[in-house]
Amino acid sequence: MLTGCKDKLFQGLFASRLPGFSTAQEGSHKHGGKQCNSWKKVVTLLKIHPMSTVHVIDHPMIQHKLTIMRKKETGSKDFRELLKEISLLMGYEITRDLPLDDIEIETPICRMTAKKVSGRKLAIVPILRAGIGMVDGLQTLVPVAKVGHIGLYRDEKTHTPVVYYCKLPEDINKRLVIVTDPMLATGGSSCDALAMLKERGCNNIRLMCLVAAPEGIARVQKEHPDVDIFVAAIDERLNKDAYIVPGLGDAGDRIFGTK
Ligand code: PRP
Ligand code: URA
Repeated sequence: MLTGCKDKLFQGLFASRLPGFSTAQEGSHKHGGKQCNSWKKVVTLLKIHPMSTVHVIDHPMIQHKLTIMRKKETGSKDFRELLKEISLLMGYEITRDLPLDDIEIETPICRMTAKKVSGRKLAIVPILRAGIGMVDGLQTLVPVAKVGHIGLYRDEKTHTPVVYYCKLPEDINKRLVIVTDPMLATGGSSCDALAMLKERGCNNIRLMCLVAAPEGIARVQKEHPDVDIFVAAIDERLNKDAYIVPGLGDAGDRIFGTK
């Protein structure tokens, strides 16, 4: 899909624009004075094969905090706090379209019709371990959200996920589910977690990640075209160990100080 455009930076932006174009940059760009319009072909393809939207939440404060997280000298305490702060900020966007009901209230001055988030219930499901680091921020925003847990780790050799735990709210299938995991690398862990939720009847799921590789986004979109993806950044690629480049290293180890 990216043929004809060798510019790495543009590929990053381009990848982030693919499905739904929910990011800041618009329009085509130039290579050596020649207009590059290859993204228009993708728009046409997407009209034929509709898929989920990738929302790149690239607010300046999120970018700033993420830069500190990426630095190798940033310690676990700061890393955790920044992840919590970014999760809260991203939460604003993820919950932007929650339906509202009108309610009658009385202010000290008079009666009025005011807004209240309607009865639709929310669940946060972190993928263990690293996804836990995004729960606090979201719960600050939505304190009544229930929390389920899915335990998955990547086999170091095959890079494929192994399930070791699953505990979800009983009524999870009636809730809007936000799956959290800071890293979307090959997409294997997220895809398996989404499949587990769907097996339990969930049909309203969003995936919230901090940093994603284009490969992971493509895989989630292919296997779960109904799940919108929210990320703070789309990086360049995966390395031979399936780590995101430039990325931020092993998110779980950095959160919990295990290395
Ligand atoms: C990391 C990360 C994701 C997964 C991403 O977890 O938190 O869950 O890898 O990789 P993928 O997209 O290629 O599946 P890891 O397996 O290292 O487990 P941990 O959180 O317990 O450290
Ligand atoms: N898991 C991580 O924690 N980081 C990566 O870059 C890839 C997978």
